[in-house]
Amino acid sequence: MAFLSKSSLALLLFLLAASAVRGQRLSHKFYSRSCPGLQPLIRDIVQQALRDDPTLGASILRLFFHDCFVNGCDASVLLDDTPFFVGEKNAPPNMNSLRGFQVIDVIKERVESRCRATVSCADILALAARDSVALLGGPYWAVYLGRRDARTASRQAATLNLPPPGESFTNLVSSFAAKGLGTRDMIALSGAHTIGQARCSSFRPRIYGDSNVDPSFASIRRQTCPPLGGNNLASLDVQSPTVFDNKYYQNLVARRGLLHSDQELLNGGSFDFFVRSYSLNQTAFFNDFSSAMIRMGNIRPLTGSNGEVRLNCRKWN
Ligand code: HEM
Ligand SMILES: *[C@@H]1O[C@H](CO)[C@@H](O)[C@H](O)[C@H]1NC(C)=O
Repeated sequence: MAFLSKSSLALLLFLLAASAVRGQRLSHKFYSRSCPGLQPLIRDIVQQALRDDPTLGASILRLFFHDCFVNGCDASVLLDDTPFFVGEKNAPPNMNSLRGFQVIDVIKERVESRCRATVSCADILALAARDSVALLGGPYWAVYLGRRDARTASRQAATLNLPPPGESFTNLVSSFAAKGLGTRDMIALSGAHTIGQARCSSFRPRIYGDSNVDPSFASIRRQTCPPLGGNNLASLDVQSPTVFDNKYYQNLVARRGLLHSDQELLNGGSFDFFVRSYSLNQTAFFNDFSSAMIRMGNIRPLTGSNGEVRLNCRKWN
């Protein structure tokens, strides 16, 4: 320490203290001592759930996105409404749309019986989302852990922060930028729509009104999505809805994106480069998707002594 001047030592101590106040950083090994075997346990439960219903993988992945974009990855999306509490589940972007909560409940129950009051719901969601992607054929990445669970949620923040399907490219870019994510991250993360489904109400304006749509694709989708009434589901990826692959981008090149926001990614600008390169090179997509998921998972986590480890993901302790 002799080489440190008094003022630089003071600065160092200040920085250490400041980072302690803000809480620790997330780490891959957060539960390696406190809950050994956590990750295989979660993977096995997700695997069983997807064996029974492969469409649940998409739903779990989306839960993680809708958690992270609303006041950070703090499991706020998992809190149930009560007569005295309004949470995020019934905000317009989520209501009658989010699913997969029962899988998270099963994981939480099994994790609690192995490691009591140790593993947060926010981390369970991050791991279950990663496992869903990997089990459906997508990439695998090491998940940073150590998030804690919020004691509150915000219906208004959910409404304001989750981009709607009619969004323009410019607005998609700014809604991701507001979370510290770049345009390339936004384009790679949208590749999550290589799995899962959307309701007719989410894509009706596109198949009846957009001009940048393949006519035969639009006409197939109109058969189960009438101009008025009815809210059937359709696959976001017309080719392989339960396989995590790069066909989403091939669809965009063929003007077969289901949501208006999907097709906006190929708008004739310089970022078309990424859509085209992902459509040709699945490895490039998988690499960018994995790093973007890690960045999304780092959005404003609660750490240290902030928040809590919920015992039941649907309610605070
Ligand atoms: C870029 C902006 C985005 C918009 C505008 C958007 C919008 C939507 C909409 C409207 C749906 C269908 C909901 C319904 O009709 O019930 C949907 C589904 C889905 N979204 Fe996104 N999304 C976006 C980004 C993302 C991201 C970043 C992820 C994850 C990394 C994601 C994952 C999913 C998944 C997996 C589904 C299918 C869910 C299921 O089948 O249960 N989305 N999205
Ligand atoms: C595909 O992308 C990966 C990762 O960016 C790169 O290393 C590889 O060379 C690319 N393959 C082709 C055929 O361009």
